[in-house]
Amino acid sequence: MTQDELKQLVGRAAADYVNAHVPEGAVIGVGTGSTANCFVDALAASKGRYRGAVSSSVATTARLQAHGIRVFDLNEIDALPVYVDGADEIDHRGAMIKGGGGALTREKIVASVADVFVCIADASKRVDVLGAFALPIEVVPMARTAIGRRVTAIGGVPVVRVAKDGAPFITDNGNEIIDVKGLRISDPLALEAQINAWPGVVTVGLFADRGANLCLLGTDTGVERIDFTTR
Ligand code: A5P
Repeated sequence: MTQDELKQLVGRAAADYVNAHVPEGAVIGVGTGSTANCFVDALAASKGRYRGAVSSSVATTARLQAHGIRVFDLNEIDALPVYVDGADEIDHRGAMIKGGGGALTREKIVASVADVFVCIADASKRVDVLGAFALPIEVVPMARTAIGRRVTAIGGVPVVRVAKDGAPFITDNGNEIIDVKGLRISDPLALEAQINAWPGVVTVGLFADRGANLCLLGTDTGVERIDFTTR
């Protein structure tokens, strides 16, 4: 199967999971990226079961609304039984690197409210040690250079993300992103806390403190279900 077919497979598997486990009338947390898009497309078939969704980006909001799925502001919602999103890397404990699409901050906020985080990914995203994928950090623009120095001090190589026109990439929150290359992240929980404490950091794209509870991993032999709550 191609990577796109694997993404569609896990997108459908996540919709099946949500339909089986989430009560009718609930609001669903929805992530961002090409795999999350597959989930949105699959969920559309059963949209009548749900009150709507909370979205983690402007792009996902547009996709949900194009399917006729109502999008709520997170402030209107008391509880989210589930959050479904992709990942750039996921390790054997359910810690992830996210933010390749630039939506890491809203993703982390919505995930923090959800009871269960279901990660959907193709098999290429599973790793033993996080860090081969450059670690995104959303930063307040005036702190870009200062944070770059701190990144260098911990052994990383900071690269300011640029848009197609060569200007700095700007997030949905009006900030910039530094992608950190060259890290081998043996303790994701500690690194997440360390980077989040730097002044000017909005969010680091390490999801270890709030990792995945479940991963639906697309492989050539089907969907592998990895339950991190039993590990
Ligand atoms: C978006 O900011 C990211 O966190 C995505 O969840 C991650 O980059 C995975 O994206 P794909 O599903 O497109 O690979």
